[in-house]
Amino acid sequence: MIEKSFVMMKPDAVSRRLMGQILSRFEEKGLKIVALKLRAIDEDLARKHYGEHSDKPFFEGLIEYITSSPALTMVIEGDDAIAVIRKMVGATNPKEAAIGTIRGDFGMDTGRNIIHASDAPGSAKREIALFFDEDEICDYSMSDNAWIYE
Ligand code: RTP
Ligand code: MG
Repeated sequence: MIEKSFVMMKPDAVSRRLMGQILSRFEEKGLKIVALKLRAIDEDLARKHYGEHSDKPFFEGLIEYITSSPALTMVIEGDDAIAVIRKMVGATNPKEAAIGTIRGDFGMDTGRNIIHASDAPGSAKREIALFFDEDEICDYSMSDNAWIYE
């Protein structure tokens, strides 16, 4: 099923100049970027986005990290995109994430783990609405579609 996922390169990815390399991975995979915005995330938005973790000991540090410097927010579309992207992102702890995944290749610490991706259709819908207006999401077709999908 064609799905949309909310993906965010966290401040470390932007500040370490990894945006191009990471974006290339999604393009090379055959996924479609349908929205893209570099922005500062304020505290209110960060708390809403990560609300499910509000009672965890790492929550305040997480909010500080996400609001510390701009992040690259995206909506990415493709067949089973939510699960495919989570697989490309890798385990939460970059030390445990498989080599070949984004976190496994670029990170060292759970508190600086490079990227976020929605984990289920419900959270994808909620997160996309939190970060993008409907008219910011582009509807277009890729000319190589028949070479990506049978
Ligand atoms: P994300 O939501 O950012 O895609 O990450 P995730 O699903 O792999 O992991 P999740 O459990 O949702 O945790 C959200 C983010 O909180 C930070 N974290 N720090 N210090 C810690 O023990 C700890 N645990 C989680 C990470 O930035 C993680 O991605
Ligand atoms: Mg999560």
